[in-house]
Amino acid sequence: MKPSPSYPIVALNRFIEATRDSGYKNTSAAVAELIDNSFEAEASVVEIFINELSIDARRELQVIVSDNGHGMTPSVLRLALQFGGSTRFNSRLGVGRYGMGLPNSSLSQGRRVDVYSWTQPGVVWWTHLDVDEIATGAIQNVPKPVRARLKTVDCISESPHGTVVVWSKCDRLNHKKVKTLTAKLHAELGKTFRKQIYSGKTIKINGETVQPIDPLFLHKGANLLGATQYGPTLKYEVKVPGCGSKARTASVSITFSELPIEQWHNLSNDEKRSYNISKGAGVSVVRGNREIDYG
Ligand SMILES: Nc1ncnc2c1ncn2[C@@H]1O[C@H](COP(=O)(O)OP(=O)(O)O)[C@@H](O)[C@H]1O
Ligand SMILES: [Mg+2]
Repeated sequence: MKPSPSYPIVALNRFIEATRDSGYKNTSAAVAELIDNSFEAEASVVEIFINELSIDARRELQVIVSDNGHGMTPSVLRLALQFGGSTRFNSRLGVGRYGMGLPNSSLSQGRRVDVYSWTQPGVVWWTHLDVDEIATGAIQNVPKPVRARLKTVDCISESPHGTVVVWSKCDRLNHKKVKTLTAKLHAELGKTFRKQIYSGKTIKINGETVQPIDPLFLHKGANLLGATQYGPTLKYEVKVPGCGSKARTASVSITFSELPIEQWHNLSNDEKRSYNISKGAGVSVVRGNREIDYG
C-alpha cells in the first residue's frame, strides 16, 4: 500500500521563505528588534558591527549585534531561535511578546543567523538557523547548542555575560555599502532608542557611538536644538478592556513642540531636510521607552 502523504500543519521550507517577507519595514527596524532583546536582557552596551566580507569573489555584508546583557543558557538559546519561542510569551511588560523577533528579523535580512551566548565568562554556547539548510531538510529542529569560541572583535570585550547575533548571507539589506547602511542605522536607531540613550544606554556602530535624535528638537543630541514645548504635557488614563478583573488603565502622555521658525527659516531646503525639519513633521509614538512608530 502506498504510504499516505504527510501534511504537517506548517510546511517548513515554504513557511521560512514566506516569513522572510513579513513584518519589517527596513534593515534598521530588523536590527532594532535585536536591540530590544539586548535591552530586555539588561544590557548597558550594544555594539553593532557591519563587516564587508569577500566570499567566492563576491562582496557580502555581515551584520553583528553584540550585547553585555545577561546572556542565555543553552536551553533558552535553543528556544530563542524557535519561531514562537519566548521566555516572556504574551507578556505586556516589555517590548517582546510573541517569540518571533529574533528568528523573524534575522531571516528577513539574511539567509543565515548564528547566535552565541554566555552567562558566565568563557563558556560560550552557539546555535544557528540557515534557510538553505532548512530548504534541503538538513535541519528540521533548532540545532542543539554546542560550545564555541568567539573572536573578541565580535563581542563586547570581556563582558562576563552577553549575546552575539551574526547575520550572514545577507541578501535583503536595504543598503549594499557599509557607509550608507551605517549612516542609515545611526539616524534610525538614534531616533528609535533616544530615550534609552538619554537614560545612559550605549549603542555603537563600528565603534562609533549612536547619538540620540529628538524629533521634537527639545533634547540635546544629533538634532538641532531650539524648539520649545507647546503647552503642558497632556496626560490621559485610558481603560484597556480585558477579561473581567483583568481590565486595567494605561497612561498616555502627549507632548507638542513648537519650532523656532524665525531662527530656522533662513536655512536652505537641503539643510532643513538633513535636519529632519521639513520632512520630519509628524507623530512619534513611544512605548516601553522606544519609538514604535512614526507617521
Ligand atoms: N540578546 C539577548 N539576550 C538574552 N536573551 C535573549 C536575547 N535575545 C533573545 N533572547 C531570548 O530569546 C527569546 C526569544 O526572543 P524573540 O524571538 O525576540 O522573542 P520575544 O522577545 O518576543 O520573547 C526571548 O524571550 C529571550 O528569552
Ligand atoms: Mg524580542
